[in-house]
Amino acid sequence: MAKKLFVKTYGCQMNVYDSERMHGVMAAEGYEATDRAEDADLILLNTCHIREKAAEKVYSELGRLKPLKDARPDLKIGVAGCVAQAEGQEILRRQPAVDFAVGPQAYHRLPALVANGGVDTEFPVEDKFLHMPAAPRRRAPAAFLTVQEGCDKFCAFCVVPYTRGAEVSRPAARLLAEAKALADQGVREITLLGQNVNAYHGEGPDGRDWTLARLLRALCEIEGIARLRYTTSHPNDMGEDLIAAHGELDKLMPYLHLPVQSGSDRVLKAMNRRHRADEYLALIERIRAARPDIALSGDFIVGFPGETEADFVQTLALAEAVGYGSAFTFKYSSRPGTPAAGAGAQVPEDVKDERLARLNAVIWRDQKAFQRSMVGRRLPVLVEKPGRMEGQMVGKSPWLHAVHFLADPATAGQVVEVDVIESGPNSLSGRLAA
Ligand code: 5AD
Ligand code: SF4
Repeated sequence: MAKKLFVKTYGCQMNVYDSERMHGVMAAEGYEATDRAEDADLILLNTCHIREKAAEKVYSELGRLKPLKDARPDLKIGVAGCVAQAEGQEILRRQPAVDFAVGPQAYHRLPALVANGGVDTEFPVEDKFLHMPAAPRRRAPAAFLTVQEGCDKFCAFCVVPYTRGAEVSRPAARLLAEAKALADQGVREITLLGQNVNAYHGEGPDGRDWTLARLLRALCEIEGIARLRYTTSHPNDMGEDLIAAHGELDKLMPYLHLPVQSGSDRVLKAMNRRHRADEYLALIERIRAARPDIALSGDFIVGFPGETEADFVQTLALAEAVGYGSAFTFKYSSRPGTPAAGAGAQVPEDVKDERLARLNAVIWRDQKAFQRSMVGRRLPVLVEKPGRMEGQMVGKSPWLHAVHFLADPATAGQVVEVDVIESGPNSLSGRLAA
């Protein structure tokens, strides 16, 4: 009987992609996927270190898994991802039920770790994905594809440059081949992933460095791929050709995640973001000029060390000025080893809570208004899977709204036209156009 692998994924979309690739690696070793930890011969936690809460989850989950290991000592438990990279040795010390820890750049060496245990947090020079067979599982119509990893920006709050390492772009030819393979398996939408995806500068088939815009143009040529997205970007890497691509490429969806973190120049400087608030707003204007129906999304941190009420009010003003289609808001979390940890006056927790609530009020209001503005419109929807109700299917609008409607399950994977009738708390519903 085949051995069974259970993977639990935390954190960002890149971890989702990595987890799928780890399934591929272990499938080549004879492992089958399972949804139940109780049935597994190998359990992998693919972890996130971005905020303290995310990292803490690992130890509580390991505590819950320990009885399984006590009952079946031959069960292997591994910790992957950014917590493994940051504190691999400590994990093994704190939780003896763990057999191995593997950092994000060492996943191609998973089989050796499963066999021998230990900690592998090396940063190899080669592309690890070259040595990672694709997952054999059936594909959904929308897939991720990592094109760039790591970060050289060193924002003062962020662990990513330490957990994911320096910026590396994968060669374009390999990405085109992978995208083609995805398309052949029925994938219609690809989201290109990178911690700094718009800084992509991989080697092109012509021997020259390609920009993300160049890569997107080439991906548009692949038959079967109907939609392209990319995430996540830094404002300073929004090149002219990428802005222009938003106006020119029909397959590039009109939705851009462009984090700003703060609306205060003082805080932006302390964060080492290397741009001012007015520069960000001017950039948004240029992007909107290229693609007027584009929706913006962003990330914000409230309560960065030294942030005053006046700084925060500028963040509120920036959010108001942009009018985000959606956004993610976080309370600052001090991360060991980052420049901001311990530096400056820490903002008290109750002040962070209060600012987060005020910012969320603005973000949620705009998000709701944007979603409601879809009512009465006919939208192209990529059908993904059956909905919760009988006969219902669910798919995504160009702006990532979930859309529910009655349709044949055979429409999965097609882009259909839906007349939007209602805007609910988290999704739209409508009727399949004739
Ligand atoms: N504290 C709070 N939020 C953080 N982020 C990154 N590091 C921290 C931190 N130390 C947020 C940023 C980033 C998103 C992925 O997570 O907003 O864009
Ligand atoms: Fe979390 Fe960042 Fe690692 Fe993704 S790259 S898992 S967000 S720490």
